[in-house]
Amino acid sequence: MKRVVTLISGRGSNLQALVEARIPGAAFVGVVSNRPEAKGLAFARSVGIETAVVDHRTFETREAFEEALHATVERFNPDLVVLAGFMRVLGEEFVRYYEGRMLNIHPSLLPAFPGLNTHARALAAGCRVHGATVHFVTPEVDGGPIVIQGVVPVLPKDTAETLAARVLRVEHRIYPQAVRWFVEGRLRWRGGGGVEVVGGRVEDRVWFVPALEE
Ligand code: GRF
Repeated sequence: MKRVVTLISGRGSNLQALVEARIPGAAFVGVVSNRPEAKGLAFARSVGIETAVVDHRTFETREAFEEALHATVERFNPDLVVLAGFMRVLGEEFVRYYEGRMLNIHPSLLPAFPGLNTHARALAAGCRVHGATVHFVTPEVDGGPIVIQGVVPVLPKDTAETLAARVLRVEHRIYPQAVRWFVEGRLRWRGGGGVEVVGGRVEDRVWFVPALEE
């Protein structure tokens, strides 16, 4: 079994999608939140996953916070660290330690719209498609090698909220797929270059939601 530790800050719907995907070989051994009030903690406890809180507000410096976070994550002895709506930027030391075994999901088609407010920005830019990206985490925020992307249409009446909801549904499909590949030992990335899915088809790396599915 591969031991998976998930880092969250809030709702935890991606965490839930990952757990409910029942990925063979994946053991969700711990959930760590930087916010004690994160809703995802309650979900984790309800399915018997051990939880921990490392509240960034109680630390003087980012370094001290990350040291505590690192120690907490290490207690679970992870093979894979999954960032699922974890809203703190992680420093180089932390990121390098888990290089090649830490994934993130970002709600845009990277490299478009790194950072926050991605749905409003995609609308403002007049994008006809939008989506989400699972990538390996590198020190460059939202800049790591892409594993899988999910693409959704932008519809004429969309608001940031309706678009976010459509993107979220695709997030819940692509994140379990990426974790499944990792657990199967099929994701290849050894620094630099792109990611390879061993034995995978090119079309498995992008998930399209047809325009008028809703
Ligand atoms: C998702 O949109 C994810 O892409 C972003 O933060 C949000 C987290 O949602 N990184 P949830 O907590 O998984 O419901």
